[in-house]
Amino acid sequence: MKITCKTIAQNLTRTELLVVFARKDRRPKLPAGVKVPQPALASFDGEEREVRFIDCSDGPVERLLLIGVGEGNGIDPETLRRCGAIAAKKAEKTGAGSATLWFDLPAGKRAESLGQALAEGAVMGTYRLTDFKSDAEPAKLKRLTIQGGSADFKRGAERGEIIGAANCLARRLQDSPGNLMRPRDLVAEARKVAKLSPRLSVEILDEKAMARLGMGSLLSVSRGSSEPAYLIHLVYRPGRKKGDRKVCLVGKGLTFDAGGISLKPSPKMDEMKYDMSGGAAVLGAFQALAGLEPDDIEVHGLVPTSENLPDGKANKPGDLVTAMNGLTIEILNTDAEGRLILADALAYAETNIKPDAMIDLATLTGAVVVGLGHELSGVMGNDEKVIDALVASGKRTGELVWPLPMLDCHKKAMKGRVGDLQNISGAGVGAGSSTGGAFLSNFVGDIPWAHLDIAGSAWGAEDRDYQGGPWGTGVGVRLLVDYLEHG
Ligand code: BES
Ligand code: ZN
Ligand code: ZN
Repeated sequence: MKITCKTIAQNLTRTELLVVFARKDRRPKLPAGVKVPQPALASFDGEEREVRFIDCSDGPVERLLLIGVGEGNGIDPETLRRCGAIAAKKAEKTGAGSATLWFDLPAGKRAESLGQALAEGAVMGTYRLTDFKSDAEPAKLKRLTIQGGSADFKRGAERGEIIGAANCLARRLQDSPGNLMRPRDLVAEARKVAKLSPRLSVEILDEKAMARLGMGSLLSVSRGSSEPAYLIHLVYRPGRKKGDRKVCLVGKGLTFDAGGISLKPSPKMDEMKYDMSGGAAVLGAFQALAGLEPDDIEVHGLVPTSENLPDGKANKPGDLVTAMNGLTIEILNTDAEGRLILADALAYAETNIKPDAMIDLATLTGAVVVGLGHELSGVMGNDEKVIDALVASGKRTGELVWPLPMLDCHKKAMKGRVGDLQNISGAGVGAGSSTGGAFLSNFVGDIPWAHLDIAGSAWGAEDRDYQGGPWGTGVGVRLLVDYLEHG
């Protein structure tokens, strides 16, 4: 689907479907020359997410679709994101080859964020996983024009298109079956992303390179699989000048987590193909960086990627491994593997990248699903500023983030008996998400750092028109892009 962004002042070109967004209790304002029966217009209430099709008698438009955005002083971006998704989905369903989204409502200071939300919704709403269906029909909607009131709105819509597409990349990676999205496939996807802009580069560390660096923790996880592990290192460098800030994003890339010798129960084990969602979010964020080309920031992306399977060579409960920073870890449960691969990725960032701030995203614990459900990500870390910035980005993007404690008692619970650390706490401690974060805190040194537990928010969220159901959400992409801009 090709998207063109315009302002209202530009001409309305001929289109099969014109979508007009209308406020509650105000008569919809149509572009000049569009003729529709007046009673049909007058009876439209404009309730939030209300839809009405009206056939046009003549003029540049064949059919009109009204979508209500509700009332209130300001339309909020989340509502418009949902309305954008409804518009694109309805357009696709009618079989229209072209559609125009017409937003002629007062937007004030929020024009740019509303334009962005509308375009994000339109792009995210048309996401479908058709790669594996033999009878999949190609999308009918080929051209979408987004027209809004001001230059700010248009600029926002252009950003929204890029960010929405990056979210869709993350979802495609998440939703792809585990046998077709192996560590090596994630590496291939990272190489593709790196080709999108001359400002991007990628280095792939294979098992030999990781062994040389002493990444005994990460390598112990892939020993149980015939698929080798990799550490993907993406870099975004701004134009000629050096960035004012250097940020490192780290994403858990477990392409399938069976639990290892501490095998998970069979029901719902298929969901563990989503255990690479943190890595998918990092790749999505880099695709967005390629399109947005910010000038003030250098961004590094690390994705440790592996499978976690039971095998004769796999980790056994009680085994001891040594991470890159020299700390020894007693593996008491092989299913707590995310923290084992992240430990070496974080230690690598601390010593070899030395960023000003570091954020990891991981489907780390079932406990966060119990505590926060599927609509929120948990956040904890060693730096209030980074945590607060992520909470603020969550509010702006609708990818909500909630602080969880990570205190000395949680760190103490991860001290080892045989080694320096153990990868799970003793029985009866509880607070599984906090102890998981506390374990990771041993590998970040003094770098300001926050850990996002996205085990709940990565998939299975309620229907929001632009996402929902038993699918990946691409959570993290929009959040990270916002954080990189404002944080
Ligand atoms: N990938 C899982 C976490 C997970 C659970 C993600 C449910 C999504 C839904 C992780 O590797 C894991 O198995 N964690 C264990 C840790 C435990 C053994 C301390 C868990 O949460 O049960
Ligand atoms: Zn696990
Ligand atoms: Zn896992």
